[in-house]
Amino acid sequence: MPPTRRFGYPVFPYTSIDSTMREAAEWAERNAPEGSLIIADEQTAGRGRLGRSWISERGVGLYFSIILRPDIPAASAPVLTLAIGLGVARGIGEVCGRQCDLRWPNDVLLNEKKVSGILVEMESGRDRVRHVIAGVGINVNNSGMPPSLAEIASSLKIETGCEFLLDVVRDHVLAQMERYYGMFLERGAKPVIDAFTRASSYVRGRRVVAENGEQRIQGVTAGLDPSGVLLLERPGGTIEPVLAGSVRPWVDGEI
Ligand code: BTN
Repeated sequence: MPPTRRFGYPVFPYTSIDSTMREAAEWAERNAPEGSLIIADEQTAGRGRLGRSWISERGVGLYFSIILRPDIPAASAPVLTLAIGLGVARGIGEVCGRQCDLRWPNDVLLNEKKVSGILVEMESGRDRVRHVIAGVGINVNNSGMPPSLAEIASSLKIETGCEFLLDVVRDHVLAQMERYYGMFLERGAKPVIDAFTRASSYVRGRRVVAENGEQRIQGVTAGLDPSGVLLLERPGGTIEPVLAGSVRPWVDGEI
């Protein structure tokens, strides 16, 4: 049982499922309570951000979605996304004995490689959130990565040389997710933004390319605004928000 008050109660476990995101959305529509955990040993159609897929091989990784019911305006969702990323990074850091980096909005990195991805999907009414599904994938005991991903993605085992019990990783991550979610609900956006800024090497001074579908802009990261949006200083000196999408290091000579 996870050492949490709400996260992980009740648990809906599956041996194989297409995606815990789809299943969680159905449970949410059936009024499953906040904290409900939909977790699978493998996913056959795991979903990533920006329409990508998430490889979800049986037995080596963690694949779960949590139903949240925060009483917040829809406009606060970006900070909630950061809070969830902080929780996952801290939980992984605890079990590995390493500090994870965070790449905005919420990729979790060890040694510059992505070991965990987070997909946050929100249902909202006119302006308030109805529910949020936070989906977390963690590469734990994978011995290798597919060649197309090996330069950018990794697992806890590859980066540390140790194997981890999936239940132990899950429990640490759930406990830290609950902690940062509570921080956001009780104390608001500022402590979350401050914590993210301290935890992430990407928030300030990194040369990055921000990609959102067809659009790509380059610049140097210049902090987060009060709503959790990443700011970029463009080559001409103007500051622009990155409203959606993802960032990656800007390679010399590119664009
Ligand atoms: C990303 O692209 O970085 C986000 C990946 C999110 C993957 C997780 S695995 C559990 C949950 N179910 C899914 O289909 N996706 C998320």
